[in-house]
Amino acid sequence: MNNTLPTAVLISGNGSNLQVLIDKSLGGEMQANIAVVISDKADAYGLERARQAGIRTEVLSAKDYASRENYDEALRLKLEAYGVQLIVLSGFMRILSAPLVQYFAGKILNIHPSLLPKYPGLHTFRRALEAGDKEHGTTVHFVDESLDGGPIIRQSPVPIYSDDTVESLKERTQQAEYDLYWRVIDEIARKTME
Ligand code: GRF
Repeated sequence: MNNTLPTAVLISGNGSNLQVLIDKSLGGEMQANIAVVISDKADAYGLERARQAGIRTEVLSAKDYASRENYDEALRLKLEAYGVQLIVLSGFMRILSAPLVQYFAGKILNIHPSLLPKYPGLHTFRRALEAGDKEHGTTVHFVDESLDGGPIIRQSPVPIYSDDTVESLKERTQQAEYDLYWRVIDEIARKTME
């Protein structure tokens, strides 16, 4: 693991994007190593993916903290304890508060399943289909204290076909995510280590 950037991946669920990041990291294609996977849900399947890859895991449950600020302070301490220099949100279903975002300014990334600024928030596939869009996609962006609103780094569009369902569009969009996120992380990690 020489010359790879210590990185945290934050999840809340399945972790299919996390799996790609694990594979690319362990395969030596991505210049970032996953020092820890943190979840706000103890039953997130992504935690199992991390364990199977021998990656340290941590659970921070919202119910154990009185406020968002308390939660984010605990999260900050955890991230510091692992010495991470990059924080990758990958299906992490919480908004980060301003102090945390500012503390790690420019070091937190998110992937969102729409062509932002279109469709921040949830149900992006359904909303794109209902709007009659011809194109959907995914966006990697820096995180600020807004919902899916930080500066865009890169996007990957996918077509919408007339017979698409939420499931088929989700599947196509996620394939684009699997191809996009690790490349952006790799690029940022290389630049950070220059
Ligand atoms: C991804 O589609 C990502 O865009 C969004 O949450 C989803 C997480 O899926 N932020 P998974 O947990 O990586 O399978």
